[in-house]
Amino acid sequence: MGYTDSHCHLLKEFYDNVKSVINDAKSCGVDRFLVNADNYASSLEVLDLVDKYDECYGTIGLHPEYAQENFDFKIFYDNRNNKKIIAVGEIGLDYHYEGYSKEKQIEIFKKQLKIAEEFKMPVIIHSREATQDTLDILKEYKVKGLIHSFSGSYEVACEYIKMGFIIGINGVITFKNCKLKEVIKKIPLDKILLETDSPFLTPDPYRGKKNSPVHIIDIAKFVSDLYGVTLDELKMVTNKNFDTLFLENNGSF
Ligand code: NI
Repeated sequence: MGYTDSHCHLLKEFYDNVKSVINDAKSCGVDRFLVNADNYASSLEVLDLVDKYDECYGTIGLHPEYAQENFDFKIFYDNRNNKKIIAVGEIGLDYHYEGYSKEKQIEIFKKQLKIAEEFKMPVIIHSREATQDTLDILKEYKVKGLIHSFSGSYEVACEYIKMGFIIGINGVITFKNCKLKEVIKKIPLDKILLETDSPFLTPDPYRGKKNSPVHIIDIAKFVSDLYGVTLDELKMVTNKNFDTLFLENNGSF
């Protein structure tokens, strides 16, 4: 078995030819993709994609950046029995940009957490400059999932893990002067997942180019060195983590 890219956006908005991106990654040994939606249109696209490609799993959901957009939440109920839709995402809080409505972000975040809880579905969490609110809100719901692109302290990572979350590691870890290395090293291997966040966050030495799931391998090399384990071991453990979190014992999915 190959590697799994636990978080990517293989959408038309970013790639002229999604099929060739998938095939290139497969030929390099990356053969499972969790494709994340971020609004209503991309949720529909993900539904189409998972139908077309065996290798693709998907999420549907409304990202905080699109909090003001119209989103018909019926889409969750209509696709409740779709076995290829394995999480609610990408959802969360992003206080980075000016002009956002904090209240609206919190409202749609809670609404989707409630659906995830009801469906017993994992969630994909995006949290930027909003750690305390994210932790506080997550504590109100019985949900587990992936903390996508984790960038906090070891203490924060432990809080998430205690709640049943897995820590997502991507190309950011390969950046020079990235302080995250010391934090990640201390997190048990069975609590991490590898992700690219393609087309964003391209790892070194490819920074500046568009990211693709192929680069899971560069991230894996870096992380296996960091932990002092072989690439095979890292691949095996992270695949198992993915299966446990997303594919086993998940409610109606
Ligand atoms: Ni993302």
